[in-house]
Amino acid sequence: MLYSSPRDSLHMGAAMNGVFTQETIKKIEEGIRQRYAAAAKSPEGRFRFPTGKAGLEALGYDRGILATLPDEVLASYCGVGQPFALARIEQGESVLDVGCGAGVDTIIAAVMTGPHGKATGIDFVPEMIERAKQNLEETKLDNVAFAQGSGENLPFPNESFDCVISNGAFNLIPDKAKAMREAFRVLKHNGKIMIADQVLEKSPPFSSPADIVATWAR
Ligand SMILES: C[S@@+](CC[C@H](N)C(=O)[O-])C[C@H]1O[C@@H](n2cnc3c(N)ncnc32)[C@H](O)[C@@H]1O
Repeated sequence: MLYSSPRDSLHMGAAMNGVFTQETIKKIEEGIRQRYAAAAKSPEGRFRFPTGKAGLEALGYDRGILATLPDEVLASYCGVGQPFALARIEQGESVLDVGCGAGVDTIIAAVMTGPHGKATGIDFVPEMIERAKQNLEETKLDNVAFAQGSGENLPFPNESFDCVISNGAFNLIPDKAKAMREAFRVLKHNGKIMIADQVLEKSPPFSSPADIVATWAR
């Protein structure tokens, strides 16, 4: 999914806005937090799609770049698609990864942008940020930063990044329109947004917010 304007994203969040109470959103977020705190140890067997190195290879990630990264770093990958298939990241660019998980996409972006660029990953689950920092220590990169934060309130000034990427996070964010506005706020003029994610093509397979809470609270 490569969005060309913030307006494109507004109906993504419309279904969510006004449907959930703050209490429901808190329960959903707690369920997501628990699920991803566990996945920070190892994503293997926790998702319906291939994770780790097998997932990266199946999604067509650049094998030359993968070969430069330690296997234990690649093992923590749990993305759903390949944001880098949507546009090129150029040398020297600054990249923000929203919902970076254990940081594999952030680290790959840092390799692409090279030593004169920088990649920053944010995630709202502290265990994921901890794992991302451990992963970074396994590499020789010094142009990567990780921070805990929400995609709905990005802790960066306006027009900070040449490129915003995200992989499998927007589907988890309750207020998608707000998160998309935030992504465009921190993006420089003529910047790129590359989002790989899961989308529903039909009506959702649940009938009430309680069903969604039940899904995440399992
Ligand atoms: C599919 S994983 C990301 C995978 C990652 N790109 C990789 O390289 O392995 C999705 C991430 O989104 C994070 N997330 C969910 N809701 C979020 C939110 N509101 N703000 C920031 N991150 C969020 C989750 O904690 C999870 O780590």
